Amino acid sequence: MSSENSQVIRPLAGPLDGTITVPGDKSISHRAILFSAMAEGTSRLLGVLDSADVRASIEAVQALGAKVSLEKQPDGSLAGGVEGWGADGPRQPDGPIYCANSGTTARLLMGVLAPWDIEVRIEGDESLSKRPMRRITAPLMKMGVNFEPAGAETLPITERGCRDLKAIKYNSPMASAQLKTAVLLAGVYADGVTEINEPSVSRNHTELMLPEYGVETTAGERTARVVGPAQMHSCEVQVPGDPSSAAYLACAAVMKPGSAVQIENVSLNTARTGFMITLERMGADVTTRRTGSAGKEPYGIISAAYDAGLHGCEIPGHKIASLVDEVPVLSLVAAHARGLTVFRNVEELRAKESDRLDAIVNTLTKLGIDAWTEGDDLFIEGQPGFQVPKGLVLDSRGDHRLAMTWSLVGLVGNTPVTVTDFDCVNVSYPDFLRDMEGLVK
Ligand code: S3P
Repeated sequence: MSSENSQVIRPLAGPLDGTITVPGDKSISHRAILFSAMAEGTSRLLGVLDSADVRASIEAVQALGAKVSLEKQPDGSLAGGVEGWGADGPRQPDGPIYCANSGTTARLLMGVLAPWDIEVRIEGDESLSKRPMRRITAPLMKMGVNFEPAGAETLPITERGCRDLKAIKYNSPMASAQLKTAVLLAGVYADGVTEINEPSVSRNHTELMLPEYGVETTAGERTARVVGPAQMHSCEVQVPGDPSSAAYLACAAVMKPGSAVQIENVSLNTARTGFMITLERMGADVTTRRTGSAGKEPYGIISAAYDAGLHGCEIPGHKIASLVDEVPVLSLVAAHARGLTVFRNVEELRAKESDRLDAIVNTLTKLGIDAWTEGDDLFIEGQPGFQVPKGLVLDSRGDHRLAMTWSLVGLVGNTPVTVTDFDCVNVSYPDFLRDMEGLVK
């Protein structure tokens, strides 16, 4: 990890206090760009997250011929038009499509490209090039898509789509919204009903958004279906705030004595707010209040305040998908709570931007906290009031969610810490530190 962008994170000067909004939801932003690129006509997007990951999706659809005229707004978001390729399909790009660190771009793109007779090499950075891709290529190959090398586990992979896609019924081995979305997007062009079943419920933004683009979509418990072939048409998307970004502010407030924060206009989609239920079960002073909806996505206010009485709890395996990106920051809250916290079946954490299970156990151990895994379960024995050892260097492994979590160690702790490769926060929340420090009164 390069030390040039290591960042010293100092304890906050006082409690967090006040009201804030967070940048647009990353999952919804990716989908708004990719779906608009597939559609006929010009879609209008508002509140799009401006981050490295979302820029990877923007550059990908531009290389494929979509016309993107999103502009930076005073609030830091992107807004404007995306003119899709519609029935003409994407053009053959001049070179490979580089997805940088963005798993969502790479995996959803495989579904986007599925029905078209062009050849596209998909590449990623060092971290993305280690992440599993066969989970996506396997069902798409059943639908008729070609990949080279055919059995590749990881990027780079070259895809050649198929104009005559077969609709399939697929039982997914894992709860993954990226896998589900890739299959559903291919299904938009297949003849008949494409159905995907999951072992537990993953985020459902795709099922909520596709009907707005004119695709007949049904969603039940652990099942989603699209009816193809359909021609997507343009629409308007308002992106609510990202609950995964709000989670850092809420968890900081819960851990920092005297704090009370409100985060407004955040997505309150229950497939994403599992961390709030977990905080509540740990005895934290947190609430949500719905204030509206953007399309079919509910949004509202998250409130969180310090609580001295946090206690451990058990998070069952079937709830993990609803908080999958928040396990690192929740594990830090668990370190502050009395007793044992158990996260069941968190094997997916090994396949994220880094091996987050290994990182959590390693870093909490450095903090003097007992943390270990047994099989696919994560255990943390909390120690309320623990003191952070002086001079710690905490390794973000270039993983944005770890960089923000380890920053909280310094921000709510008793002594500064150094976080390596801090700039990776640009992947999802570029102004994270400014927002956090701005809440100190
Ligand atoms: C995402 C789905 C999740 C999540 C990722 C974003 C999405 O990944 O971890 O940050 O936008 O669909 P999996 O589909 O691998 O669970």
